[in-house]
Amino acid sequence: MKFEDIYSFDDFKKRKIRLEDIKEFKVESKFFDERTLFNLYRTMAKGIVSSIEFPVKEGKESIVLAGKDKNDEWIAIKVYRILHCDFKNMWKYLIADPRFFHVRKSRLQVVITWARREYKNLKIAYKAKVNCPKPIFVLENVLVMSFIGENGIPSPRLSDIKIKNPKKMYEKVVEEIEKMSKAKLIHGDLSQFNILSKDDQPFIIDFSQAIRTRHPFAKEFLERDINNINKFFKKLGVEIDENLFEKMKIVAGLE
Ligand SMILES: Nc1ncnc2c1ncn2[C@@H]1O[C@H](COP(=O)(O)OP(=O)(O)OP(=O)(O)O)[C@@H](O)[C@H]1O
Ligand SMILES: [Mg+2]
Repeated sequence: MKFEDIYSFDDFKKRKIRLEDIKEFKVESKFFDERTLFNLYRTMAKGIVSSIEFPVKEGKESIVLAGKDKNDEWIAIKVYRILHCDFKNMWKYLIADPRFFHVRKSRLQVVITWARREYKNLKIAYKAKVNCPKPIFVLENVLVMSFIGENGIPSPRLSDIKIKNPKKMYEKVVEEIEKMSKAKLIHGDLSQFNILSKDDQPFIIDFSQAIRTRHPFAKEFLERDINNINKFFKKLGVEIDENLFEKMKIVAGLE
């Protein structure tokens, strides 16, 4: 049975699939746990996702799926792993975040909070007009956002392509950093691996570890982000701004 046959909304309705049924289904030979399948099911039952078309990418912490909404538009569904994550490490990061210091040290709570944090961060970024996916919905470990790509194929990461005009791309990435800094949001894992290039525009993704400027690691994360970006573009022969960290610190109100 094909994945897309199982997960169309009509199929769910027709067959009244229950937890016991969906437990059997696989994605790339790895089982989703029951709770995740139930959350996917609930997301579909709410009409947020009409179909899940195929898995796009298996990361360390998540599996990203390509789906369609009710208008037949592509959407990205990021599913955080509950069973296979390093939740102790995630917990350490979370409790340092003033927004989430109360989170309990349970695997499930940590993963749920992690997903909610990415959703919140995406909302802040999107509102600040950062080129990033539009956050649509979050339910426990399932995060739905707009799709950056074409026909369910994600746009390439900066690390995957030969950038046509590295200088221009650098300037554009700096603009995105500036928008985030203005919004008092620090990405925290910014690099060529978390920036997609669509129509020669950079799109920033993967906001799960992003923090606000009042977070104790804010300065450190901002410096690391900027060093990553500068190092990458320097290698491509771009004359980088050596004072970028100092400038962005001021924009972000960090001193
Ligand atoms: N909104 C989106 N639209 C299109 N593709 C996406 C979207 N979000 C994520 N992807 C795809 O999924 C991949 C992994 O996403 P992301 O970096 O958010 O997850 P991750 O768990 O950090 O994965 P990794 O461990 O590989 O970094 C991206 O490189 C991209 O190919
Ligand atoms: Mg990533």
